[in-house]
Amino acid sequence: MRRSLIDILDLSTAELDEMIRVAEDIIAAPQRYSRVCEGKKLATLFFEPSTRTRLSFEAAMYELGGHVLSVAGANASSAAKGESVADTAKIVSCYADIIAMRHPLEGAALVAAQNADVPVINAGDGGHCHPTQTLADLLTIHREKGRFDRLVIGICGDLKYGRTVHSLIAAMLRYEGVRFVLISPEALRVPAYVTDALQEKGIEYRETVSLEEAVPELDVLYMTRIQRERFDAAALYERLKDSYILTPDKLRSAKSDMIILHPLPRVHEISVAVDADPRAAYFRQALNGKYMRMALILKLLGDRSEPEPLRALRTPQEIAARGLACRNPKCIGKVEQELAPAFVLAGGRYRCLYCESDAQDALSGGDAPKRKEQA
Ligand code: NCD
Repeated sequence: MRRSLIDILDLSTAELDEMIRVAEDIIAAPQRYSRVCEGKKLATLFFEPSTRTRLSFEAAMYELGGHVLSVAGANASSAAKGESVADTAKIVSCYADIIAMRHPLEGAALVAAQNADVPVINAGDGGHCHPTQTLADLLTIHREKGRFDRLVIGICGDLKYGRTVHSLIAAMLRYEGVRFVLISPEALRVPAYVTDALQEKGIEYRETVSLEEAVPELDVLYMTRIQRERFDAAALYERLKDSYILTPDKLRSAKSDMIILHPLPRVHEISVAVDADPRAAYFRQALNGKYMRMALILKLLGDRSEPEPLRALRTPQEIAARGLACRNPKCIGKVEQELAPAFVLAGGRYRCLYCESDAQDALSGGDAPKRKEQA
């Protein structure tokens, strides 16, 4: 197993700083990097739709002088014949030096990394996380605001299924004096493991349904799309899809140096009239993604260190004795039956290793405890 990027917390803050420095250097002198990956191959395995993530990975590898092998779409690969993620990862390791993978199942990239002989980059695993979007977000915040500390960050939209949201919060809670305003409909609040992490770190945050009420205090406004493909009930999506629409009018009360981010694609949540506002940074953010992916490919190809061992897993005996089970139907551990169930104990509860959702825990009464609300 090689060092991979599955979760944004796989990178230390010092490593993130170094990658930002490399990305800035690439922006300043791209010709210096145009042959550094000569003879190396990146495989892009995208089992879910993508425009910017896949193309920016491919552009990144080409601009480093490397080559790209690509499978786009679940139907174009042996996954359609029923091949497991583990087997696919072993096979692709034979042909490529590094893999970028997007998959609809939560935890799929972790399973790929455990089975590949080359570094694996999580380019999105279901509604779970999306660390390379966070790299784009961080470079943008760094370039636009000049700091990560003491920022009030509003995150608006689908905070439940928006994987970019989960990774961004995880990254930002390591900085001093950061405060979050989490703006979503009641049905789309952030998952419990995210609010637990905020509470464990003592980070100030509040949850609200009103974008208008939140805007005046924000330094960063991160808009997101309602993730239609992750809803079980189409009617609920129809009811929530236009919950938030950012217009020039709603920006009147915003700070003059607030920045507006969006991982894109947008559907209706930012009106095109906002694009002309100098605070709209989302197209610059998409470009920044390419530079950070270049820095990431360089880092992982050059990193021969042993990956950190996985956090303490429960043994099969403990799992059986406690009656632990993952209840998330979108978790790879549930769908790929031959994978051994694995759990970690975090903040007093058992979580699935693959998708981080609260496990069913028969010994503590069947269900996981209700999430703690912040006063
Ligand atoms: C995001 C994703 O795929 O999660 N897109 C991206 O990678 N830039 C956001 C989204 O699809 O809404």
